[in-house]
Order: sequence, then structure tokens, then C-alpha cells
Amino acid sequence: EIPVFDSIAKFREWRKDMIRNNKTVGFVPTMGALHEGHLGLVKTASQECDAVVVSIFVNPAQFAPHEDLDRYPRTFDTDYASLASTKACAAILLPKVSEMYPSGIPLDRSQQRGAFVEVQGLSQQMEGIPRPHFFRGVATIVTKLFNVVQPDRAYFGQKDAQQCVVLRAMIRDLLFPITMRAIPTTRESDGLALSSRNRYLTPEMRKVSTLLFRAITAAKENIVVHGAHERENILKPAYAIIEQTAQEVKAQGLPFEVRLDYLSLVDVETLGELQVLGANQPAILSGAVYVGDTRLIDNVLINVE
Ligand code: PAJ
Repeated sequence: EIPVFDSIAKFREWRKDMIRNNKTVGFVPTMGALHEGHLGLVKTASQECDAVVVSIFVNPAQFAPHEDLDRYPRTFDTDYASLASTKACAAILLPKVSEMYPSGIPLDRSQQRGAFVEVQGLSQQMEGIPRPHFFRGVATIVTKLFNVVQPDRAYFGQKDAQQCVVLRAMIRDLLFPITMRAIPTTRESDGLALSSRNRYLTPEMRKVSTLLFRAITAAKENIVVHGAHERENILKPAYAIIEQTAQEVKAQGLPFEVRLDYLSLVDVETLGELQVLGANQPAILSGAVYVGDTRLIDNVLINVE
């Protein structure tokens, strides 16, 4: 039996017990629809901390009005069962929107009231271009959750590489006494990064959805094996794989389209786009593609570790 807290006050009592008992707390924030990627974070956290708290909260502030907030999968019963099966989760925090946003959270941003957290300089590039309010929503909810959970360590997936960079800067700049841990991406055997949105893929879509991983892996190989260092050169095979897959989907008359959103090569600290990759310069090679209406993201790290 894992205790499930939908009241912040009740959760705070549990947290006080942990402090009294000198237990370190690890924290894994999620939006539910849990898969092996999330569970991997929980397992790593449990190896490093005495007690692991998992939060499940579909955060309205990080969805734009046209995005999939209503459609986002809500699967608490199976999430609970998955967490129980890991034996690694000590408490589940399932807060209410009204408690997390006491000033309200109208979808029309011009009507918003209350406090929000912004990490300037790292939130408007890459994923922030199509989603200009996204990282403000993420930084705000993670701050609120930190203030509730007060973890010693917090665990995030490298799958969302920019989220990791933004939150690492936030923890540093706002002086949170929390250690940030970024955990490698869990993948299907064919390379597709696990994602809650993969469930939107039909079997035909699922088959081609490895294209992004194949593309960025080819670009990485181009750096590591062939010593490519100019952006255009590095990304050429990646563009080619995506173009070719899109053509194949079309030629086969499949009932959906494959479309590139962007490919990106950025410095791991500044997230500035690189025209030239310096020798041993740590970088993130990432991208987003649409397979039908489903937007998939993925990344690989260059010169890290
Ligand atoms: P969510 O998409 O539910 O992801 C929760 C955590 O799981 C994130 O840190 C994410 O990077 C990680 N994750 C997702 N897929 C993964 C995979 N295949 N391998 C490893 N880790 C993976 O990210 C969010 O929720 C939200 O933005 C949140 C941080 C909870 C704030 O609302």
C-alpha cells in the first residue's frame, strides 16, 4: 500500500515524519500515464534516497489552449499498480488543480493572476519556439512541487533535455537546496524513446516513428566517427533520413503524414544554436517530428560523460 496524498496539508505531515526520522527524500515529478521511462527514474531515485515521492499532476500551465490538455491520458489505477510493482515508491502526491493554483489558472493567459517562474534565456529556443509559454509552466509547477515535497534530490529524464537545462538553471538561480539528477532516456528495443504520447500512434505510425532517433543517431555518428564539425555537414544525414521516410510514407499511400518540425544542435549550457561544433564541446543534438498529429521529440548528447 502506497499512501496517496491529494491534500497538501496531509502530505506535509508525512514529509515532517521523514525529517524527524532523518530520511532523505527523492522526488520524481510526472504527469502520469506512467511507462518504463518514468519507472526507471523512480528506481534510480530509490537507489540513492531513503524514500521516493512521485507526483502525478497534469499541469494546465504548460499546455497552450490548442494543445492536448483534455486529451492527455489520465490513467491513475494503472499508474498506481506500476508504482506498487516497483516497490520503490514511498508516497504518491496527487494534488488538485485548485490547490496548486490558488489564484486560478484560466486558459486565456491575459486573464492570469498570481505568481509564475520564468527562466530567462533558456526558455525561448528549441521547444520554446513553438511553445512560448511551455517552460514558464514547467518552471512554475516544479517550483510549487519543490515547495511542497522539499526533496533532497529531484529526478528528471534526459529525454526532455531542454527541460533538464532549464530546471538545473532554476535550481541554481533560485537557490533551491536540491540536487538535480538527469537520467538517460529509456527506449524501446528499436530505439524509439518511451513517451506517454506514443499511445496515440497506430501500428503503422509506430513502425515509422523510429525515424527521429535514426536521424539524430546518424548525425551523432557523423560527428563521432567521421569528425564532422560544421552544422550543415553534421545534420545532413539526419535531414536525409527524415526526408526519405516521409517520401516512403507518401509512396506507400499510408493514411498519415510524417513531417519534420525542427532539428537542432545547441551548446549544452547556453542552448545557443551552433554553426560549428568545437572540439570536445558538450552539445545537444535534438529534434521534433510529427507522425500524423502526434509530435515526438528526442535527443542525443555529444561530448557529455
Ligand atoms: P512527464 O512527461 O510525465 O515526464 C516525467 C519525467 O519522466 C520527466 O522528467 C521526463 O523527462 C521523464 N521521462 C519521460 N520519458 C522518459 C524516457 N523515455 N526515459 C527517461 N525519462 C523519461 O516532464 C514532465 O512530465 C512535466 O514537464 C513535469 C516535469 C512533470 C512538470 O509538469
